[in-house]
Amino acid sequence: MTTHPNRLIIAPSLLAADFLKLGAEAEAVENAGADWLHLDVMDGHFVPNITFGPLVVKALKTRSKIPLDVHLMIAPVDPYIAAFAEAGADHISVHPESGPHLHRTLQLIRSLGKKAGVVLNPATPVEAIVNVIDLVDIIMVMTVNPGFGGQAFIASQLSKIAALRRLIDSSGRQIYLQIDGGITPQTAHSVLDMGADCLIAGTAVFGKPDYAKAIADIRAAMPKPFPEFTVSGG
Ligand code: DX5
Ligand code: ZN
Repeated sequence: MTTHPNRLIIAPSLLAADFLKLGAEAEAVENAGADWLHLDVMDGHFVPNITFGPLVVKALKTRSKIPLDVHLMIAPVDPYIAAFAEAGADHISVHPESGPHLHRTLQLIRSLGKKAGVVLNPATPVEAIVNVIDLVDIIMVMTVNPGFGGQAFIASQLSKIAALRRLIDSSGRQIYLQIDGGITPQTAHSVLDMGADCLIAGTAVFGKPDYAKAIADIRAAMPKPFPEFTVSGG
């Protein structure tokens, strides 16, 4: 059986939620149709903003039934990976710039039984992933500079998304192609057209009054027929 998604994965980013009621917000998007919950961890050093650490992930794990998709924007990253794994992260994604040995970092994440992701900043080339693709479950393309929600989508990343789709297909591996930053129903359409299969959305979900409608509106952006979703077997 394949684990490749047979539908678009939508991962609301809790960064745009009401931090006075994170548990209720996590539950609300889950009930509204979210597939994964995206958690942005920032250290005020690797990125110019500070959010939360493993304690918050651990607390959320007690309320969330969907996978916790943890995006680490911290450096150095290696010393904290075990703590996020123990806290209940299901996916752990790291930036190549957040440590000296990306291959070793990915080995560490996988040794803890978690899905491993690599995140490419807008200026980080596709080549950063090529020699570690055998260790990767998720490739995340930043379509904003990391650090803040609510920024404008950087359209120059579309060709990178298309190149990554080709790379993933030629690898023969089941790898999610995830997009983070500035996702709206309009930008969703463009990135899905380039071969993305997993979208992170902060403002476009938590910034709306009706989360179920917000998620449905993004899902409706899926081009038809959705090119990658006829995969079976494997
Ligand atoms: C930015 C974060 C994103 C952010 C996206 O560093 O990685 O996940 O929450 O927010 P929106 O969807 O508002 O651009
Ligand atoms: Zn993120």
